[in-house]
Amino acid sequence: MNLKDMLRRNVVDTPPSGIRKYFDLINEMKDAISLGIGEPDFETPWSVREEGIWSLEKGKTHYSSNAGSVELRQEICRYLKSRFSLQYDPVHEVLVTVGGSEAIDLALRVLVGPGDEVLIPEPCYVAYKGCTLFTGATPVPIPLKAENRFRLQPEELLAAITPRTKVLLLGYPNNPTGATMDREDYVRLVDVLKDRDIIVISDEIYAELLYQGKHASLAEFPEMRDRTVLVSGFSKTFAMTGWRIGYVCCHPDLMEQMKKIHQFAIMCSPTTAQYAAVEALKNGRPDVERMVAEYNRRRRLMVDGFRKVGLDCFEPYGAFYVFPDVRKSGLNSDQFCERLLLEEKVLMVPGTAFGDCGEGFARATYATSLENIREALFRIGRFMEKMLG
Ligand SMILES: Cc1ncc(COP(=O)(O)O)c(C=O)c1O
Repeated sequence: MNLKDMLRRNVVDTPPSGIRKYFDLINEMKDAISLGIGEPDFETPWSVREEGIWSLEKGKTHYSSNAGSVELRQEICRYLKSRFSLQYDPVHEVLVTVGGSEAIDLALRVLVGPGDEVLIPEPCYVAYKGCTLFTGATPVPIPLKAENRFRLQPEELLAAITPRTKVLLLGYPNNPTGATMDREDYVRLVDVLKDRDIIVISDEIYAELLYQGKHASLAEFPEMRDRTVLVSGFSKTFAMTGWRIGYVCCHPDLMEQMKKIHQFAIMCSPTTAQYAAVEALKNGRPDVERMVAEYNRRRRLMVDGFRKVGLDCFEPYGAFYVFPDVRKSGLNSDQFCERLLLEEKVLMVPGTAFGDCGEGFARATYATSLENIREALFRIGRFMEKMLG
């Protein structure tokens, strides 16, 4: 038997994440600075860790109900209502998942398959395209423009819709650009979407990491509420990436099917993480504010720093990424990142890892210390002098 012939074509043909190569390179380097990793450098707030520890000490080491503990689902609903005026029923409309990642995968698996098209505005989080391909559906990229601050425009959306379009996968605040969408931006999208049979999967995992304005969601609009699958989680907001906990909220008809897959494939999300997540939602706000204030300080330093070394950079208002235009270096994205890493030991991720339209850009994350950011900017400045000189 040739094992390779046994494998599903659409899995084999899906390329691995383009970020990998750079992480393999940096792992072998001394004194390198990584602006590459998309996760908080902060540790989970102590009271949240303590709650997880306490649950273990009490022997709370069993499965929870498939959808997650009732207490956590209720806290999620309270939180969404008080922070974003979103109303969900904890019994029928909320599922606790293994990170936002599982939620995205579940939603796609329930909604699309071969013959369906999923609209994916790019640059975007690397998993959207892969998870779509695994279902057998076709990802249809919508290239976003820097001059629009990487916000999806209604005419771009309209031009991409076909009779096969089933899902629009949106992620704002955005990874990798740091772009955000205001309520007014969504109003214009609602006009396009409200009378069409298209479900929006809205990945709002960075909703709390916002440095200007107020977070908006398509789910706020009554016409869109039942056509929107809201994905969120604890990884970014509460620095809980390793706990593997997130959630998804949507109409009960869709939820019932997602729960079925979750029940058979996952059983329940980690129980320890669920206890910790309840504490995060109940008492974690001061910690979130402290982390957001620190990210904001770093964000300003980084945007300023890129501009000073001659790289154009639109000001991102969300997440923890900056997405400078690196074309002035005379290099393409991949060359820029590879040479920067080999010559100055600074890791940035080429924009092309997030979609073809990311060519000419590179992602830097400011989820690292001010000291690292200062040193990285110094090295990037030296690199640019060499390129421009
Ligand atoms: C936009 C976006 N969505 C979802 C995720 C997955 O997060 P989680 O840890 O909740 O699975 C990430 C992680 O980097 C992300 O950047």
